Amino acid sequence: MTTRPLLEVRHLVVEYGTGEHAYRAVDDVSFSVPAGGSLAIVGESGSGKSTIAKALVRLLKPTAGEVLLDGTDLAVLGSRELRPIRHRIQMVFQDPYGSLDPHLSARDIVAEPMAARGERSKAVRRKRAAELIDQVGLPTSALERKPHEFSGGQRQRIGIARALASEPDVLVLDEATSALDVSVQAQILGVLDALRRDTGLTYLAISHNLGVVRALSENVLVLRSGKVVEQGPTEEILANPQEPYTRMLRRSALEPTTMTGLKPREMVRGIAAARAAENAAAAAAVVA
Ligand SMILES: Nc1ncnc2c1ncn2[C@@H]1O[C@H](COP(=O)(O)OP(=O)(O)O)[C@@H](O)[C@H]1O
Ligand SMILES: [Mg+2]
Repeated sequence: MTTRPLLEVRHLVVEYGTGEHAYRAVDDVSFSVPAGGSLAIVGESGSGKSTIAKALVRLLKPTAGEVLLDGTDLAVLGSRELRPIRHRIQMVFQDPYGSLDPHLSARDIVAEPMAARGERSKAVRRKRAAELIDQVGLPTSALERKPHEFSGGQRQRIGIARALASEPDVLVLDEATSALDVSVQAQILGVLDALRRDTGLTYLAISHNLGVVRALSENVLVLRSGKVVEQGPTEEILANPQEPYTRMLRRSALEPTTMTGLKPREMVRGIAAARAAENAAAAAAVVA
């Protein structure tokens, strides 16, 4: 792993509306993520997390600041200049259901970004889609099924496979597991963790849940009202939060009723179990 930042955000400002009605949702946020590394952004609801995500993938245009991907400032590019570079940073949404075409099979959903990027061979697209479906832990039988035939966790796997089909360098995960049951969350976190180890992908993981943050990222940035409160290694910040706000987030994460009920320790156990199952499956495949 190199330490060169793959993604570097400098003094990002995003305002909704203009003039005297402008509302500053993101206020002078800076961070960087090395290639193959990860950063989590944590903060209470309304703190500006999704706004940062949307600015990074250019679903909205930043008001000021730089979004450097491998040195290219995405913040200032027009739509034509963005087109060839856009695939490099992909977003996985909280619930991909709305964005999965209900009429298409999982195979076609996953193959679609390849066609959009100019892969002309249908055979190549179908083969790659089957590989990706397998990589996210779905059976071959999933290929022909449509979105409504899947559970929430399975749909999230399809959303991840589709994001991977664009061959991104960076995955932006915006509350990617928040809509799921605890045990399913742990499975998806296991899939994401294995993916990063196997492919060297870079993650920006956004969550209000410190258990999820801890599972997905070695570094964390704490966001409040659009501003950075503190940032550093996840274990250090969780063990020794410098700011009352971070302590408050940590306290509420430990109260099952206030968050999604996921305790960090349960999360880590869930991932260990997912990894063990994965290893057992791999061992069985070798034997078979
Ligand atoms: N399209 C929009 N127009 C105006 N204000 C918005 C819009 N989207 C979000 N906001 C406001 O910006 C702030 C940050 O929102 P968001 O980035 O969605 O926070 P988070 O993802 O942390 O919950 C909130 O106060 C929200 O109400
Ligand atoms: Mg959000």
